[in-house]
Amino acid sequence: MATHADFKTLVAHAKEYGFIYQSSEIYDGLAAAYDYGPYGVELKNNLKEYWWRSMTQLHQNIVGLDSSIFMHPKTWKASGHVDAFNDPLIDNKQSNKRYRADVLIEDYVAKVEGKLNKEIKKAQKRFGDAFDEAEFRKTNGNVLRYQGEMDAVSKRLAEAMTAGDMEELRQIIEDLKIKEPETGNAEWTDVRQFNLMFSTQLGNIAGEEGKLYLRPETAQGIFVNFLNVQKSTRQKLPFGIAQIGKAFRNEIVARQFIFRMREFEQMEMQFFVKPGTQLEWYNKWKEARMEWHRKLGHPSEKLRFHDHDNLAHYADAAVDIQFDFPFGFKELEGIHSRTDFDLSAHAELSGKKLQYFDPQTKESFIPYVVETSIGADRMFLAAMSNALVNEQVPGQDDPNNKRDVLKLHPAIAPIKAAIMPLKRNDERLVNLAQSIFQDLRVDFKVMYDDTGSIGKLYRRQDATGTPFCITVDFDSLDDNTVTVRDRDTLVQDRVKIEDLGRIIGERVDMRNLLR
Ligand code: GAP
Repeated sequence: MATHADFKTLVAHAKEYGFIYQSSEIYDGLAAAYDYGPYGVELKNNLKEYWWRSMTQLHQNIVGLDSSIFMHPKTWKASGHVDAFNDPLIDNKQSNKRYRADVLIEDYVAKVEGKLNKEIKKAQKRFGDAFDEAEFRKTNGNVLRYQGEMDAVSKRLAEAMTAGDMEELRQIIEDLKIKEPETGNAEWTDVRQFNLMFSTQLGNIAGEEGKLYLRPETAQGIFVNFLNVQKSTRQKLPFGIAQIGKAFRNEIVARQFIFRMREFEQMEMQFFVKPGTQLEWYNKWKEARMEWHRKLGHPSEKLRFHDHDNLAHYADAAVDIQFDFPFGFKELEGIHSRTDFDLSAHAELSGKKLQYFDPQTKESFIPYVVETSIGADRMFLAAMSNALVNEQVPGQDDPNNKRDVLKLHPAIAPIKAAIMPLKRNDERLVNLAQSIFQDLRVDFKVMYDDTGSIGKLYRRQDATGTPFCITVDFDSLDDNTVTVRDRDTLVQDRVKIEDLGRIIGERVDMRNLLR
């Protein structure tokens, strides 16, 4: 049976095989910053390409943009980030460690949920096939008590967050007797708002005037260019602008590897629509984005929608696509109906008309916006955690004969094929393998490898997700054929060397995802 890697194993695997390293590791690392290694950068680029082509190539009415990280400081005043892009911060008086008040409360709810799930598991074991989970949830005293507590705390939290009520957050922590996770101490400071934007200073202007922010989202670069793009591409509503780029947030609690970082990459698309049609488009994009995830081979049970309890300052509807990460269901992507909030605010503060002229009705108006926003790094983590399994080697009877394999969709795999001679000290095999490599590398990311026994090389390619291994053996010298080993089934096909490009090409083609 195949088991998915637990979180610790995944992190270790990512480092050992050159996917992700801790930033500045030789100086003991910098928290919440990570570097993508040789395999990681290929995988991340492939995921970005899948997103970019899905947006800008498959939609005639979505165009791309690459705006700068630094923007005029007024951008962030207009967008609301200076005043409202805050997280509730609380310090523990004994340890002086900082926490997010809402996360402490969410963790408390998660603990209660853990107890509830334990009750269900126990009952499942006791009643076996006769177990009716829905009925048990409705009638079991402990389960009802846990569910009631979870609902009540979540409601209080949502209300306090929506109202920005810091005193109430502090009160919830006190009422629930929440302790510091590491020391068990329950002496907390008041809760206060903490702005998440990083700031820096222009070299040639002193003081507040020269204060710049590192963008906390790429979306604002799209808003301020809305008219430039619309005019230069002559787009009519509805149309979208897509962008991939770095964003920066001074997260109070940065944890769970690349899930929450202080420097990360976003893939955002703002879809400009006629006012009044935004909810129709919001629903369309919700479905389209879910389908995009499923195409990649992520099973339906690992993906779910989660409506926001607490709407951001700019949204009239918002949903997350959550993914079942090794640490549970968490936000992978957000889809937001952002109304005309951003364009109106920029129009007001800049004094520029950011309106669309409708040639049919001859009216000018500020469009509404539906946004899809996903972190490239979170997408990477989702893809890796879904793909990394430990399984009994297919075709082998011994259940202890296991392998780690990264079952990525071939179109996003870092390396598409590895070419290896059966014996590295036979010049004829090496020369033929090298010439196949030279030929294929023009079309695909392939590698030549003769650094170990074939068995060991296969295992290494499995661990990095290479869908095909091409082995050159002595028969190859006579009949110009090679074996192509499939990563997932381990079936080995004998194919003509001249057909390799076509066979590999058909399987790794990104068109398989885009179609
Ligand atoms: N423009 C809307 C926006 O930025 P968000 O929900 O704050 O919305 C969108 O962020 C996506 O960016 C998230 O769904 C997540 O995938 C990614 N993201 C946000 N903060 C992140 C962080 N600190 N580290 C990694 N990814 C992050």
